[in-house]
Amino acid sequence: MRNMTETELTEVVLERYASTPDARLCTVLNSLIRHLHAFVRDVRLTEAEWIAGIEFLTRTGQISDNKRQEMILLSDNLGVSALVNMLSAGVEEGATESTVLGPFYVPGSPERQWGESVLLREGDDTPLVIHGRVTDANGEPVPDATIEIWQTDANGMYDIQDTSQPEDNLRGWYRARPDGAFLMKTIRPTSYPIPTDGPVGELLRATARHPFRPAHLHAIVSAPGFRKLTTHLFDAEDTYLDSDVVFAVKSSLIREFRRNDSPDAAEQFGVRGPFWELANDFVLTRLE
Ligand code: BEZ
Ligand code: FE
Repeated sequence: MRNMTETELTEVVLERYASTPDARLCTVLNSLIRHLHAFVRDVRLTEAEWIAGIEFLTRTGQISDNKRQEMILLSDNLGVSALVNMLSAGVEEGATESTVLGPFYVPGSPERQWGESVLLREGDDTPLVIHGRVTDANGEPVPDATIEIWQTDANGMYDIQDTSQPEDNLRGWYRARPDGAFLMKTIRPTSYPIPTDGPVGELLRATARHPFRPAHLHAIVSAPGFRKLTTHLFDAEDTYLDSDVVFAVKSSLIREFRRNDSPDAAEQFGVRGPFWELANDFVLTRLE
């Protein structure tokens, strides 16, 4: 077909993709093309804007490698990751809600023993003790559960962003006991800015948005027969809870980090001096 109108062009493109053999791919492409064309018409995209967009996406890909995922960061900043997470939620009543994975997850982090700290550097940071159980939605213990955690250090950087940190600092996974109990040690997380030295930083500056995430630690909780839970635990005292740059806060994931000055409690948990304490159960959704 030649000499098409704007609307005919969209129809012709859709037609050209209509015999995509995989039914789901066919549905996704059809919708993507319709929405992309509608967007271009809606804003009357100019050729200069189109090339600026192409160059932006090219830089986003070029800056990405196995330690930096600017594509995920872009998706996070546009609220797409949070939206996909909302659509896939569907947890059982009473189960812990999920939220975004983020770009700083590193598969294959080391195992940590019961009560071992994931803080690998020297320092007199006040420890954070996290204890609780992994249960099902009826409060029954979930056997053979693992809990993987990762977070930024006190300087607001993940180990993979900061060569001064030991490898695997503030990340690792714990086995829960047969009764679901776990004991993890770390430090209290801080709020931190997402990386702004790449294309996503350009986007934030161009749109006058701040780059901060509220203080949180990440967790992935897995157990046979249960849906894998990817979530965060947020610090209730943080000032960015209502303006998270990546839109990932859910009220049910906000926790109180309590100061514990009791020497007996410190001895019980194997820490020296006063510590932060977070009592938290992870409640998993059973697979059908
Ligand atoms: C994170 O919490 O690690 C994160 C999530 C989304 C974007 C940037 C960072
Ligand atoms: Fe994070």
